[in-house]
Formats: sequence, C-alpha cells, structure tokens
Amino acid sequence: MGNNKALGAASKAKQDEFYTQLSDIENELKHYKEHFKGKVVFCNCDDPYESNFFKYFAMNFNHLELKKLICTCYATSPIMYKQLTLFGEEEELCEEITRKKPYKIEITEVKDLNGDGAVDLQDIELLLKSVDGKPELLKGDGDFRSDECVELLKQADVVVTNPPFSLFREYVAQLIEYDKKFLIIGNQNAITYKEIFPLLKDNKLWIGYKSGDMAFTVPDSYTARETRFWIDENGQKWRSMGNICWYTNLDIQKRHENLILYRNYNPEEYPTYDNYNAIEVGKVSEIPENYDGVMGVPITFMSKHNPEQFKIVGLVAGNIRGLAGIESKTGKDGPYINGKLKYGRIFIQRR
Ligand SMILES: C[S@@+](CC[C@H](N)C(=O)[O-])C[C@H]1O[C@@H](n2cnc3c(N)ncnc32)[C@H](O)[C@@H]1O
Repeated sequence: MGNNKALGAASKAKQDEFYTQLSDIENELKHYKEHFKGKVVFCNCDDPYESNFFKYFAMNFNHLELKKLICTCYATSPIMYKQLTLFGEEEELCEEITRKKPYKIEITEVKDLNGDGAVDLQDIELLLKSVDGKPELLKGDGDFRSDECVELLKQADVVVTNPPFSLFREYVAQLIEYDKKFLIIGNQNAITYKEIFPLLKDNKLWIGYKSGDMAFTVPDSYTARETRFWIDENGQKWRSMGNICWYTNLDIQKRHENLILYRNYNPEEYPTYDNYNAIEVGKVSEIPENYDGVMGVPITFMSKHNPEQFKIVGLVAGNIRGLAGIESKTGKDGPYINGKLKYGRIFIQRR
C-alpha cells in the first residue's frame, strides 16, 4: 500500500473504533429474549476482552439458554489506539492483546466457576483463562469477510454486534447473502443507502427499539471534537451521536404496534409536491389518518413503521435516484414544493 493509501485506511479504521455501552445492549436485548433459546450467537466485530456484546452474552448465556457463543475480533495496528481491557492490566494475555491479534472465542457452557452462587464477570474471566474458554488465534486477520469468519458465520443463528460504520453496506449484504438473523447497531443515515433502503421497503430488515442518541467510548488516540465529545473522570474518552439505531430482522412487538394518528387531511396543511403525486407531511406525528394517497414523511418514520399499517412506496432523498416507486412529473429528483427542495422523504401509503 502506498503511504497515502495506508494513512487513509488507518484513519478510516480509526473512525470505526466506537465501543458500545453495556447498558445500551441490555436495554435493546431485553426485547428479544425469545429469539435466543438454543441458538448460536456470533459477535464478529468483537474483541472478547473489550466488547460489551461478548460480556452481555457470556453473562446471560444461561438466562438466554444459548447453545453457543462465538466471538471474533479484527487485527488492527497497535499504533492506531490503545487497547481497552475488560479485566484490567493484570490479565495474562494483555501483552498479546495490546498488539491486537485476531482472536476467536467459542463458549458452549458458562458455569459458576468461583462457586459464589451466581454467574458474574469473575466467572467469565476464569472461563477465558481455562481450557474451555481460552481464546484461539485466527489464521487470518479476523476480517468478517475472511473465509474462516464466513465459516463461523455459516454456523451462527443470530449475529449481534456494532459493526464498523465504514463497512456497513458490505456487512449487511453478507448477512443477507448467508440468510442470517441479526441485530446490529448502525447510523440512521444508512436508511437512505441504496443498498439498505430496498431491504427496509421489502420487510427484510427493520429498525429496532432504541433510535437516536447513543454514547460510545473511543480510544485514547481519538481526536477531540468541539461537540458530542468528552473525557470522563477516569480519563476515558467518549463520543456521542444523535442518529444511531438498531437494525434487525428479528420479529419484535414494536413493529406490530400502530402509530396513533389524530390529524385530518386538508390540502392547505398538506401541500402536494411539484414533481410527485404525493403530499408533504413534515412530522411523523402529523400523518393524517384519513388520507389514502401517497405521503412523503421524514426518514425517521422508519423507526415507527408497522408494515400492517402502512406500505413503503419509495424514497426520495435528493441525490438518490430510482427508489421512489412513483414517477417524478418534472424529471427532478428529491421532493420539491413551489420550486424549493424539501428534506429527503420516505413515501408511504395506508394499507
Ligand atoms: C463500531 S466498532 C464496535 C466494536 C464492538 N462491536 C462494540 O460494539 O463495542 C467496530 C469494530 O469493528 C472492527 N472492524 C473493523 N473492520 C473490520 C473488519 N473488516 N472485520 C471485522 N471487524 C472489523 C473494528 O476494529 C471495531 O472494533
């Protein structure tokens, strides 16, 4: 790799180092318990020594009645960031882990190893040190697309993680290709990706419970920013984002709940677009309950969507062509009203 290219790749990879909080995982996963009984769970972007996804599934292995937990992590350069460790500096593998080798962990049983009457973090620590739970070096670099990780993916029933933001399209494409169930964290912007939107439209993928603000720990090497960045009392750097959500194809109660609508249609409040035969609805809460035609709604509608209530007709978001499902009358893309381009919109219609 040329120097510039290598630097570009390194800075892209650095932007991917956001670590999910245990509380965010717990708050989402509590809605999905029924999907895990007897299942093989794969976290394929997760260093067991730092990932709260590993920690969550290891600690809840018995509660969820899992069959197996597999975790793999990606080899990254040690100069990119300083490793965070789950169990402190004494950990015997620490030196190796600081070099961030690609590891695999497979767990089929979690026992109360310290005999204190409950399974807790100390038992997981003991398990990782024992023969049954010892991390194994992967042959390659742990890339989720590598042959050995794809072999593990084939064994898996459900994939749960926060994958690298920069590879989100490829990551989802691979899950779909191998027909896997999944629950993953992503940016709401991905709703409008031309690779992702058709999956949402065709009910192959939907938005989970939590949408909006989420805070992540970031490595020491993370460059400070003016907004949505802080360092806590332990010196840990944090970054938050306001447009994060969960993407899943596991059936959840939320997607069967109707949006309660209370507004009536009138042409003054709901103008028709210049270039589409559809009305503009500026807020999800203002969707009229008595309009049968096509309506343009904010993209955040997707987190409230119940496919029994509405049909997704298309997406018009400025530079995205060909996803509208209805023809533009003027040939212009994006929703225009009186010659002015409005925000990107999802087109929906009542069932
Ligand atoms: C957004 S972070 C989340 C980490 C962890 N899953 C969590 O939620 O705390 C994405 C992780 O994917 C890793 N990663 C980057 N490229 C990868 C690849 N090609 N294959 C597997 N993992 C990758 C990064 O090193 C990073 O740790």
